Amino acid sequence: MPERHWRAALPGDLRVIAAWVDSPQALERWAGPGLSWPPDAATLWREFGGGATPAFTLREGEHPVAFGQLVPRASDHWHLARLIVAPDHRGQGLGRSLCQHLLAQARRRQARCVTLNVFHDNLAALTLYQTLGFVTRGTADARGIQPMWLPRFADSGHTTDNECPQDG
Ligand SMILES: CC(C)(COP(=O)(O)OP(=O)(O)OC[C@H]1O[C@@H](n2cnc3c(N)ncnc32)[C@H](O)[C@@H]1OP(=O)(O)O)[C@@H](O)C(=O)NCCC(=O)NCCS
Repeated sequence: MPERHWRAALPGDLRVIAAWVDSPQALERWAGPGLSWPPDAATLWREFGGGATPAFTLREGEHPVAFGQLVPRASDHWHLARLIVAPDHRGQGLGRSLCQHLLAQARRRQARCVTLNVFHDNLAALTLYQTLGFVTRGTADARGIQPMWLPRFADSGHTTDNECPQDG
C-alpha cells in the first residue's frame, strides 16, 4: 500500500475531494449550508477560506484520502470543520486519525477549547466524535445542526463551559 502522510491542503486537492460528494445534501452534511452546488474546486477553496484557514489533507501516495479544517473562533478556540474521508476508505479508522490530527494541530496552536458542528442524524460522524470524548452542547437548531465540544481539552483540565463559547 502506498505510504500515507499529512500535509497542508492545496487548492488542487479539492478537485478530488469535491468528487466525493454526490448531492447538495451530502455537501451540506459535510461542509455546512450555503455552499455552491455543484462544488467546483476553486470556488470551494475560496468558500473554505482560501488558504487563510488551516486545512489538512491525508495523502495515500499521490491521492487525497481525507481532509479537514481548523477554523479559528478565538485565540484559544478552534473549531473542527469540513471533515471528510474518501468514500472507498471509510470504516478503516481514517476518520479517527483525521480527528486526532486536527486535535494535535489545535494543541500546537495553544487551543484550550475545541468545538464542532454535526447534523444530528449523521450517525457515523456523531458516533466518531462521541468516541473521542466530544459531547453535545444544547440542542440542534432548526436545520438539525448540533454543536459539540470536547470538555477538558486544555492540558490544565480546568476548561469550563464558560471558557468554550458555543458560537463565535
Ligand atoms: C464521518 C466520517 C469522516 C467517518 O470516517 P471513517 O473513516 O469512516 O471513520 P472511522 O473508520 O475512523 O470510524 C471511527 C468510529 O466512528 C464510528 N463510525 C464510523 N462509521 C460509522 C457508521 N457508518 N455508523 C456508526 N458509527 C460509525 C465508529 O464508532 C468507528 O469506530 P469503530 O470502527 O471502532 O467502530 C465519514 O463517514 C465521512 O467522510 N462522511 C461524509 C462527510 C461527513 O459527514 N463529515 C462529517 C461532517 S460533521
